[in-house]
Amino acid sequence: MTDNTNPIEPCQRAGGKVILLGEHAVVYGHSALVLGGRNGARAWARLAPESCLRLGEKHHCISSSLPSELSPALSAFRALLHVLNAPSVRVEAQLDIPAGMGLGASAALAVAIARAVVVCRGEGAKEPERAKNASSGEILAAANAWENVFHGNASGVDTAAALQAGCLWFNREEGATRLAVPQMPHAVVAVADRAASTRVMVENVARQRTRHPLQVGALFDRIGQLAQSAKLWSLQGNWQQVGALMSQNHLSLKSLGVSTDKLDAACRVAMGAGAYGAKLTGAGGGGCVVALCEASRGPEVVEAWRHSGYQVLQFA
Ligand code: PMV
Repeated sequence: MTDNTNPIEPCQRAGGKVILLGEHAVVYGHSALVLGGRNGARAWARLAPESCLRLGEKHHCISSSLPSELSPALSAFRALLHVLNAPSVRVEAQLDIPAGMGLGASAALAVAIARAVVVCRGEGAKEPERAKNASSGEILAAANAWENVFHGNASGVDTAAALQAGCLWFNREEGATRLAVPQMPHAVVAVADRAASTRVMVENVARQRTRHPLQVGALFDRIGQLAQSAKLWSLQGNWQQVGALMSQNHLSLKSLGVSTDKLDAACRVAMGAGAYGAKLTGAGGGGCVVALCEASRGPEVVEAWRHSGYQVLQFA
């Protein structure tokens, strides 16, 4: 924080995610297998005369003279504060992962900001401990209010994964459950194409579904079945089988029209270097691919991607 009229609360964090199987189908009630990461976003908050969000170099201040329609970030911030019944706060937030790449950056921001606001709202409250102790349901509701401004019909998978790290099983009805996998997979991620909008991709899929309900419904069913099988293999720690299912999931996403030539090419490069499987991750239309491989093969996949000009990200 730059201005120091109030003590700085400790930084609050939330993680990004990679979807191993199930994106898009998860919007329509199917389940997804997800890795929740530890790094994603950090946020700080302090009480202030008016609510303001500083995101990188941009300031979004809630003042009566500015209609919230002018800025989606401001509308999202306002919605999040409303759910938390927050006092006026000044928030500063930073992303540690790239935005628009399918890694859940916006949800990580939302959860980190909600956590920071909750810590801060304890100050000056009649019952500070109570005000400080939000349930995870309250944080999730605030983050989902933020996400729905950006993404419209978000399934909630990104916010659920921002809340907890690990191997997660998610669907709209039951939320996220952490799977007791015997060991975590070795996952590597590459930025394969330019950033894309999740909202646009989810809307494109919804249009496809209206035009071709049977075909798109069958693709969702197929993706849902692949995710169910992957859950069983992951519980046995058989990431080789999960990888093979991910490659099949990629083909279904391609049929859904959300892959790109660059995403397809990045998957081929990973497979050529010995990965168990590879697919686009997130909404598609650009962004990242994720590959699973034997840990000893990781450097070869990374090297093959770098050699082909892709940026490789550490997923932690
Ligand atoms: O692109 P991301 O990281 O926001 O992932 C979106 C996942 C979708 O299934 C496409 C949308 C959703 O809300 O579940």
